Amino acid sequence: MAMRLGVAAALAPTIAGARAGAADDTIPPLFDAAAKCGLRFGAAIDREIFDDPQYAALAARHAAVIGNINALKFDWLRPNSFTADYTTADKLVAFAEQHGKPFLGHTLIWNDWPPPWLTALGRKEKAATFAAHIDEVMGRYRGRIATWVVVNEPFSPWDRQPGHYRLGPWFSTFGPDYIARALRRARAADPSARLILNEAFCERRDDIGAAVRPALLRLVKTLRDADVPFDAVGLQGHVQPQHGLDHDAYVRFMDQLAAEKVELEITELDVDDSRIPGNAAQRDAAVAEHYRAFVAAVMRVPALTAITTWGLSDKYSWYHEVAQKENPLAPHQPRTHPFDNAGQPKAAFHALIERLSSC
Ligand code: G3I
Repeated sequence: MAMRLGVAAALAPTIAGARAGAADDTIPPLFDAAAKCGLRFGAAIDREIFDDPQYAALAARHAAVIGNINALKFDWLRPNSFTADYTTADKLVAFAEQHGKPFLGHTLIWNDWPPPWLTALGRKEKAATFAAHIDEVMGRYRGRIATWVVVNEPFSPWDRQPGHYRLGPWFSTFGPDYIARALRRARAADPSARLILNEAFCERRDDIGAAVRPALLRLVKTLRDADVPFDAVGLQGHVQPQHGLDHDAYVRFMDQLAAEKVELEITELDVDDSRIPGNAAQRDAAVAEHYRAFVAAVMRVPALTAITTWGLSDKYSWYHEVAQKENPLAPHQPRTHPFDNAGQPKAAFHALIERLSSC
């Protein structure tokens, strides 16, 4: 695999330790392992770090890039009206800056989870809101957020639209052109920021993945042919074994995307263990093997520049919400991340250390 020259050095954090709390400095940082192969390793976190110094320290120690999970989303910034509350987002960006780490902002334009007040607007008002939102948020963090997920999840086969486009306020306003509009506006709002087009489901070997992969490839080609500005494609990497996995085919898909002269990032890596049988130790071993196999596969693609996990510990896994919705009486306790509920490294952590540093 070709070494990615210069990337890690440019982005490796200047602060090795973590001011936020006492991180276990006897275990090697994940970002260090990744940097050995020229990869940036990041972690998306959120407001939980403000009340959990140990978790804050874990993020500060192991991530070279800090991202947010929810705080910069449209509905978390503007739940009731266009007036935004940036309190949490400001604190997260400040946390990253305090630790000398670049920030990955998620996400400016997403057709999912629109607050009711946005849905109720007329087309012209939505169009004005679209532009004002991008300008205001990117203007506020201009030069402080290194990379933006500008458009998230343009596709949703469940919506049964031509081209598998996801329905929502932005699609209803502009049609598929909302994607190019968002990217162009983002480039103008902060020319210093790297811009990502982000998609889910491409890992799945079912009809969903079979629909989304060609749709995303077609979209990237269209955007490139029209000289629409963006720097990377984000593949979320929520590894869900129950939907089937074919890592060789996934690498071939990544290579097809890379041929369009885009960088690639894994932007939301975690492993769903809800359908993995056995006790905790057996599930941990299986989850570790999924991390190892997935990372080994994607690292075969020279265009890959970064891997970001969607959280770091089981304690704050989003799969708690999924499990609660599936079975409120006896929710499955997720073991999806490199660190356990107590912030201790699991088999998945050791698998990541071994694979990220193998090149
Ligand atoms: O909007 C409702 C609000 O009306 C209600 O009062 C509140 C009560 O809990 O819930 C609000 O919905 C929450 C929603 O975030 C708002 O955006 C849901 O409960 C909450 O479960 C939801 O979770 C986040 C989800 O994105 C939607 O934003 C998850 O924490 C977050 O992990 C998840 O992350 C997504 C990425 O952004 C995109 N890729 C997939 C990934 C996992 O779904």
